[in-house]
Order: sequence, then structure tokens, then C-alpha cells
Amino acid sequence: MVPATPRFETDAPCFEWSGAEHAIGVTAFDQEHQRLAALIGQVHATLRDKQDRALAQNLMGALIYETWVHFDHEERVMTEVGFEGREAHAAEHAALIQQAKDMVQKVQRGEISSQAMPGFLLTWLIPHIQVMDRQYAECLQSHGFR
Ligand SMILES: [Fe+2]
Ligand SMILES: [Fe+2]
Repeated sequence: MVPATPRFETDAPCFEWSGAEHAIGVTAFDQEHQRLAALIGQVHATLRDKQDRALAQNLMGALIYETWVHFDHEERVMTEVGFEGREAHAAEHAALIQQAKDMVQKVQRGEISSQAMPGFLLTWLIPHIQVMDRQYAECLQSHGFR
């Protein structure tokens, strides 16, 4: 018997923010991360519930822009406190933005279904927050950031 395939890849569980799993302990950046996570959830919900691909692509554009603003904020603060991992961190930011732009272009050219966007987003920004962003948190906290 052929196994049932999900009607949409968006049948995958939607991302949910969890303080214990995702907070890094710097309030301003935790708030920005939550805002980005909410946008990720909106892309997912728009495809799953409304099946509105155009709106999902617009939300994806907004997510990329807001992520770019957030990365710029982090890089300015890392410079301010002299965080030694700044260059490697900024390089990963640039790579993440490029990956998301490539993804959107492929969707727009019809090479990838827009239904693949939620799955892409789950592994796109969240691991960066959990690994690299945690690396600067201690340095920022030692400079008085809470
Ligand atoms: Fe971040
Ligand atoms: Fe970052």
C-alpha cells in the first residue's frame, strides 16, 4: 500500500516559541527573535489555513527585511562591546539572508513550491539563534545588557 502523502508540506507542525528553548537572556534581542518567530508562524499559517501563496510570499519578504534589520542591530551591539566572534557571526548573518533570498527567487521562478517555505524556515533562523546568538549573550550581559 502506498503511504499517504501529506496534502501540503505545511502539514508539518508549526514553529512555536519557547522561552526555555529559544531565549538567549538579552531582552531586546529575545523580543526581536520572538517577532521574527511570529512572522515564521504567519508564513506557515497563511499557507496552511488560507492557502494564499501570494500573501505568504509577501510575508516572507517582510520576514527577510525584518531579519536584516535585526542582524544589523546585533552587529552594531557586538561592535559596541568588542565581541571577538563578531566577524564570523556577521558572515553567518550574510549567508542566512542570501539563503532566504535564493529560496524566494526559486519560489518565484516556479522551481520550488511555496509550500516548501515553512519547512525551510524551521531550519533557517532558529538554529542560528540557539547556537550563535547564545555565544554573544554572555559577553553582552557582562557589559550590562539584560
Ligand atoms: Fe539574532
Ligand atoms: Fe545573530
